[in-house]
Amino acid sequence: MDRIRIVGGRRLEGTIPISGAKNATLPLMIASLLTDQTLILDNVPRLADVNLLQRILSNHGVDMMVPGKRPGESQEFGHTLHIVASRIVDTTAPYELVSKMRASFWVIAPLLARMGEAKVSLPGGCAIGTRPVDLLIMAMEKLGAQIEIDGGYVIARAKNGLKGGEIKFPKVTVSGTHTALMAAVLAHGTTVIENAAQEPEIGDVADCLNKMGARISGTGTSRLIVEGVTRLGGARHSVLPDRIETGTYAMAVAMTGGDVLLEGARPELLQAALDVLKQTGAEITSNNHGIRVKRNGSGLAPVDVSTSPFPGFPTDLQAQLMALMSKAKGTSRITETIFENRFMHVQELVRLGARIHLDGETATIQGVERLKGAPVMATDLRASVSLVIAALAAEGETMVNRVYHLDRGFERLEDKLSACGAAIERVSG
Ligand code: UD1
Repeated sequence: MDRIRIVGGRRLEGTIPISGAKNATLPLMIASLLTDQTLILDNVPRLADVNLLQRILSNHGVDMMVPGKRPGESQEFGHTLHIVASRIVDTTAPYELVSKMRASFWVIAPLLARMGEAKVSLPGGCAIGTRPVDLLIMAMEKLGAQIEIDGGYVIARAKNGLKGGEIKFPKVTVSGTHTALMAAVLAHGTTVIENAAQEPEIGDVADCLNKMGARISGTGTSRLIVEGVTRLGGARHSVLPDRIETGTYAMAVAMTGGDVLLEGARPELLQAALDVLKQTGAEITSNNHGIRVKRNGSGLAPVDVSTSPFPGFPTDLQAQLMALMSKAKGTSRITETIFENRFMHVQELVRLGARIHLDGETATIQGVERLKGAPVMATDLRASVSLVIAALAAEGETMVNRVYHLDRGFERLEDKLSACGAAIERVSG
């Protein structure tokens, strides 16, 4: 299994290109199930999760093609995917595949909408809390689906098609909102989705669905209105930049000091996180090329932050912020309100010398003068990258084990950081 070796203490200087967002790419690929025409996605990040979803979709009969490199075109980052689901050969998503990646459960809504039935394994346990699917089931039922749970599978049926209806989510859910949208676009009549998630990736998927012929309005607000259509066609869509990758590298620069342009990043996708970084003392500016993050000699100021749905501070940057605050001058507080049990990084950060006290959903971090390298183990995607951030500022060598979590969500992380002067390398085997 690959590991990543980091020797801390180097400032980061240069440019980091920001990849397409993982959390938009996955539902965009899944949306291909809604049409028999070709969906072309540009700016698709090269990630293990994308490869896995390709396998899952091909099990349903979806063909995927990555066209060759044109002269002068760089294939280092991002690529184009041609996806065509001309014939769905299987409406079952088996446990062996769904259990590897929770988001693959989301195939249930487009399969149901297009084929009138779907049988998808419940995703099973997850490292960051229970993560149920009750609200996804509720959304499909509101549109007339009959749902049964049998042998660990959710079986959804709508023999005469889905019907528009009103879906009101009791809590904000990204997975629920994606499911409601993908079910509603081919339903008879109008659907209103109340208390919808406003995450930018939802807007990106809605934009793509509209290019395919869907009629979705209210994007970017908590009330989405979908007028059902009888069929969707092909489209070409470029995936929006990854705001979590952007925030992660911004925190890495704040941690080590330095001056880095996050190329292609868009500030409006992570304003809350950029505001927190400014409070810590980082200098943030943006222009047409992206976001520039700078921090010179002065120490980091502590912060008090709670995660919340967009436009609040994202849960997917909570672990990275905690790593950063481990070296702040003073005591910070970080409260996790989205997922229970999303603190697996705490024990590993402590191994690097961080002083963190957990009390329920709040972590109190007392900044320390120095962190010291050690072997650490990552347990989920965002936790792993928080260890990388801490290691970049720790004295000596840190070995991050189990890096397949990083490969799930960060495109060529070690190349991007070493191009800016970090001492980081992948150790195979
Ligand atoms: C998505 C993101 C993930 C991010 C999260 C919150 C993808 C692929 N993943 O995950 O990176 O951390 O949004 O921004 O886009 N819930 C229920 N019942 C349900 C569904 C959800 O109670 O049926 C709860 C969850 O347990 C959680 C909260 O709602 O406490 C938010 O979950 P949700 O927004 O659905 O997260 P995901 O879509 O799984």
